[in-house]
Amino acid sequence: MTSIVTKPEELTFSLPDLPAMPAPGRVLLVDPAYFDVEYVINPHMQDHVGNVDKTAARAQWEALRKAYERLGIDVHVLPGAEGLPDMVFSANQSLPCLVSADGSAGGSGAGFAGDSNKFQRTVVMSIMNASQRKAEVPYFEQYYRSIGYEILHLDAERTACFEGMGDALWHPGRAMLWGAYGFRSDLSAYEQITAMLGVPVIALELKDPSFYHLDTCLCILNEQTALIYPSAFTAEGLALIHALFDVVIEAPQGDALRRFAVNAVCPDGHHVLIQRGCDATNKALQHHGFEVMEFDTEEYIKSGGSVFCMKMLYW
Ligand code: ARG
Repeated sequence: MTSIVTKPEELTFSLPDLPAMPAPGRVLLVDPAYFDVEYVINPHMQDHVGNVDKTAARAQWEALRKAYERLGIDVHVLPGAEGLPDMVFSANQSLPCLVSADGSAGGSGAGFAGDSNKFQRTVVMSIMNASQRKAEVPYFEQYYRSIGYEILHLDAERTACFEGMGDALWHPGRAMLWGAYGFRSDLSAYEQITAMLGVPVIALELKDPSFYHLDTCLCILNEQTALIYPSAFTAEGLALIHALFDVVIEAPQGDALRRFAVNAVCPDGHHVLIQRGCDATNKALQHHGFEVMEFDTEEYIKSGGSVFCMKMLYW
């Protein structure tokens, strides 16, 4: 099914109608050897240029790596690259997905079903918004190619920017994409992606520069549940979120803005890996049955990122 949905009236399907998509079981990290704040491309970086504690950053990253391993997730680490201080945010350079081997994902809507062996692992490469980050993308492309992924590129004549899973999030278990635009990705990226992959895209406009990526204001916990920071969205975007999730948990401003509470990740539908100290958010998560695992990502928050954007979940 190909379509872009920007308001609830345009929803012509419900989630159970959509083909199933198996959950990703692997996590891709980038070694933080070259992580730093060297330029300012989001409001969080403003006061932190040259101000990263490298030893603390390494320890914070290691704690996350070990947590994925403890959860039984297969972890792969790419080396960092000198001069690319943001490469550690491995959510941003790509959008991996599974496309049915008969090629039907390219527009017929029958793209996803059954187990992951029947699929071609496919990845849409990003077009980074900031010139400082563009050279990160080929390192990821090379890795995906080496493990047999089919590589797709957006037409750069039509789309100026698209920042991968910073802005584009799969609905768990379903062949449907949530895609944000406004700061780091263009709406036209989703016009291309819906046609390339044959999946509907729920397009959400972002309106607060502090919440410049979708993963700073929407954390999809499982098929029914999302954690959000509501003021980052338009009224239409919020209505779409409420139309498609049964349970919507709201993070308060203090947790969302200063502690990146919504940049959490729930890799298995139960454990939520989140920045330490998001007490109000954690209480709400626990109330809904989630198990909270707290991490210190303070050095990365100086760069405008936390747990979610420091990893890529893939197949
Ligand atoms: N300094 C990076 C940037 O502004 C941080 C990226 C964080 N990634 C994310 N998905 N929120 O591009």
